[in-house]
Amino acid sequence: MRDNLKVFSGSAHPDLARAVCKHLDIPLGASHTVRFTNENLKVRIDENVRGHDVFVIQPSCPPVSDHLVELLIMLDALRSASASRITAVTPYYPYVRSDKKDEPRISITARLVADLLETAGANRVIAIDLHSPQVQGFLRVPSDHLTARSILVEHFRKRSDLDRWVVVAPDAGEVKDAAGFAKRLGVPIAIVDKRRFGDDEDARAVHLVGEVRGKHALIVDDEIATGGTVIESAEFVMREGASDVSVAVVHPVLSGNAMERIRSSPIRELVVTDTIPLPAEKQDPKITVLSVARLIAEAIARTHDGRSVSELFE
Ligand code: R5P
Repeated sequence: MRDNLKVFSGSAHPDLARAVCKHLDIPLGASHTVRFTNENLKVRIDENVRGHDVFVIQPSCPPVSDHLVELLIMLDALRSASASRITAVTPYYPYVRSDKKDEPRISITARLVADLLETAGANRVIAIDLHSPQVQGFLRVPSDHLTARSILVEHFRKRSDLDRWVVVAPDAGEVKDAAGFAKRLGVPIAIVDKRRFGDDEDARAVHLVGEVRGKHALIVDDEIATGGTVIESAEFVMREGASDVSVAVVHPVLSGNAMERIRSSPIRELVVTDTIPLPAEKQDPKITVLSVARLIAEAIARTHDGRSVSELFE
């Protein structure tokens, strides 16, 4: 049944692709990327893919633009090699935060990426926890928007003292997802009213809706980049009387000096997933990494077999 299924990886996160293949019980497809002295990339697919159902796993992570171009070249190479269907699997979607025209004369780059994926040869796209749902609408090819939040919920459900926990949304944009998280854990929710005063950092908490006094606050978010949002919220809920702070996010972008800031923050633990690889310098005893490999493998198997993917989340 899985005879014509193949999974390939770009250079972004081969460990995740290997783990997905392990769940699917198939070998990782052979390919290699060469970087010429003039910085041009060449991808060669090292095995036959003619008539195959092919999936390419490549999240966005540094160097972001190189990994995007490598993905586009892989899709094009697979199309030229006569794969029958090609799915781009982007566990962390490239340029996902560039999803609206909120300044004059800027590009909605997440939409441009959607066009590029299609132009390069993607017949389908699988993504995980997009920063905003409208990004899925940028894709004109069929797509599946998976969520890894259940993996985070299951992790925290095992805590024995959940009666003293409260889920905290660190900004208004996170309220809906945080409410779902809280409902599934059976705990109350609180909301931090956050304002961002610059492009990069300076997210400031200004009000709190709900009660955190004496509680273990669990801040949830889709991603952690500079750490500004969750650190500001953590310090704010501690000032409001929380006894402890944990953080759960899907995508550990951890840009700039985010790790140093987290180490010296009141955050007791940071639970993330492996949609993005965590290089050695970002690893820390405060961080727990949960794998999305099984989730991706299940979505690939269902797509390949023509079974429902949404049933995964029912
Ligand atoms: C914002 O809308 C997002 O949900 C995250 O809160 C944000 O992307 C995190 O960025 P940073 O860690 O730089 O505050």
